[in-house]
Amino acid sequence: MSQTDPKVVMKQQVALAAVERVKSDTVVGLGSGSTAAFVIQYLGERLQSGQLSNIKGVATSFQAEVLARQYGIPLLTPSEADQIHVAIDGADEVDPNKQLIKGGGAAHTREKIVDCLADEFIVVVDDSKLVDRLGTTFLLPVEVIPLAVGPAMNAIEGLGGKPTLRMAAKKAGPVVTDQGNLVIDVKFPNGIDDPVALEAAINNIPGVLENGLFVNVTHTVLVGEIIDGKPQVREA
Ligand code: 5RP
Repeated sequence: MSQTDPKVVMKQQVALAAVERVKSDTVVGLGSGSTAAFVIQYLGERLQSGQLSNIKGVATSFQAEVLARQYGIPLLTPSEADQIHVAIDGADEVDPNKQLIKGGGAAHTREKIVDCLADEFIVVVDDSKLVDRLGTTFLLPVEVIPLAVGPAMNAIEGLGGKPTLRMAAKKAGPVVTDQGNLVIDVKFPNGIDDPVALEAAINNIPGVLENGLFVNVTHTVLVGEIIDGKPQVREA
């Protein structure tokens, strides 16, 4: 994708709008994915230029850690951070109640830890991520310890899902998460009826570490869109 690709422009604009909300002397949860990558870049640039001072980041993935180092953002682990003032992260689907599916980058376990700890969780998406009903455009990612993949898939089928093991694109074999686990992507043929109940039911399966449903976590959704050829950002 070129830098003038409308999708890239929307991601950049929404990332910039989120970074403009960050104040000096705060701890910031750093999300994962291509939109969050722009957030980390712009945050680091503001820190280096002196527009912001005394910012610390808490990374949600190895990707976020690497980018934070590249752009000069000092890092804390979740255990070292007394408080996370704001977390900014992307999403794969956002419904009208601000419930999310995340995990397109297989980082949803650490993302959920960091995003849930934040005083304010800001989601940054382009308008293609807005859906009326979760599970209609994106499969639900579930991180599972390798030993439990077979039984977990059976249990997920029992909940009405159609599970597939996520395979790597440029590596032989499955995707391995930052925690050394595997990811099952689950299709719910009619979408997801009750995200709150499903999040709990899946996490109750032995061997499941975390699933990509983020329910009642999001405070703010910023949406990048192109209107009359011009990029704009609005709060959903
Ligand atoms: C990674 C995620 C990402 O935030 C999500 O996949 C959105 O990514 P992008 O901004 O590249 O569309 O949940 O696990």
